[in-house]
Amino acid sequence: MESELNRLREEALSALAEITDSTGLEPFRVRYLGRKGGSLTTVMRKLAEVPKEERPRLGALANSVKKEITSLFEKKKQELADARDAGPAVGNLDRSLPGRYLPVGKLHPVTQVMEEICSIFEGLGFAIAEGPDVETDHYNFEALNIPKHHPARDMHDTFYVSDSILLRTHTSPMQARIMENQEPPLRYIAPGKVYRCDSDITHTPMFVQVEGFLVDRQVSFADLKGVLTSFLRRMFSKDLAVRFRPSFFPFTEPSAEVDIGCVICGGKGCRVCKRTGWIEILGSGLIDPEVMKMVGYDPDEYSGFAFGLGVERIAMLKYGIDDIRLYYENDLRFLSQF
Ligand code: DAH
Repeated sequence: MESELNRLREEALSALAEITDSTGLEPFRVRYLGRKGGSLTTVMRKLAEVPKEERPRLGALANSVKKEITSLFEKKKQELADARDAGPAVGNLDRSLPGRYLPVGKLHPVTQVMEEICSIFEGLGFAIAEGPDVETDHYNFEALNIPKHHPARDMHDTFYVSDSILLRTHTSPMQARIMENQEPPLRYIAPGKVYRCDSDITHTPMFVQVEGFLVDRQVSFADLKGVLTSFLRRMFSKDLAVRFRPSFFPFTEPSAEVDIGCVICGGKGCRVCKRTGWIEILGSGLIDPEVMKMVGYDPDEYSGFAFGLGVERIAMLKYGIDDIRLYYENDLRFLSQF
């Protein structure tokens, strides 16, 4: 046993000397010092079998061998750690270089603006509802007073899935979907993606709209003006100029387009506002009695207003961006600025 211990000691010390990096440490420890099946442990178990009078001497020897190997092992471990920390260069790693930061993700600018719009309307007491992108002809057109062959359908450049199924061209179908399932008073906004077969510097085939509507007794155009003016001033600036210009939508009567004083030139006239000082920002109106009747509301009892706005357009004006397509090219140099 004595010779076995000495042989083991020699073997362990030369194995330890050959370790040059920390990956060799654990296999060494398991092989020589491991509690289960480590060489030293195995030899020490044999102590029980040696004659009683030999035991103290051999026991002491075994302990000192174990102590020696353990302390040399710990020393080696420390040396390797020191070498690693000493730097500057270990292998081809320069430890003096600053650490690399993981890039932090952010919300897409269109999502940020959309969330801002939603939170302003939530503050005005509106609830949020979402509906399907793949919509029926009924909700996208018929229920909004746009029958087949109505000229207003031409403006929508619709992507049809089949004769009666399409990608919604606006979020207005949510008016009909919500109204037919609930009784007034209602105050909703419906944000979501919409699709039109159109692409240039102010149009992308997919874009984001927010539809809003309010139905109650005695809702008037004054309520519409109050809510939208207050929203636009919160979105852009406290003293923003806002004007309501007569227009036409099949699902509202009367209808108005809303312009704001040009946020680029402050109303003096520039390329963005085509020298008029005004920028069209959304469509709106009092909900047409025909739309009310189709969802089973009595237009003599209830009235309401509705509006629809394009989120990218608001984001473009807010950030001074002149090409809508930039939002969807997903170039991080562009997106990370917001
Ligand atoms: N749905 C219209 C569009 O996409 C926008 C719109 C205009 C919505 C007037 C409305 C509204 O609710 O009253 O062009």
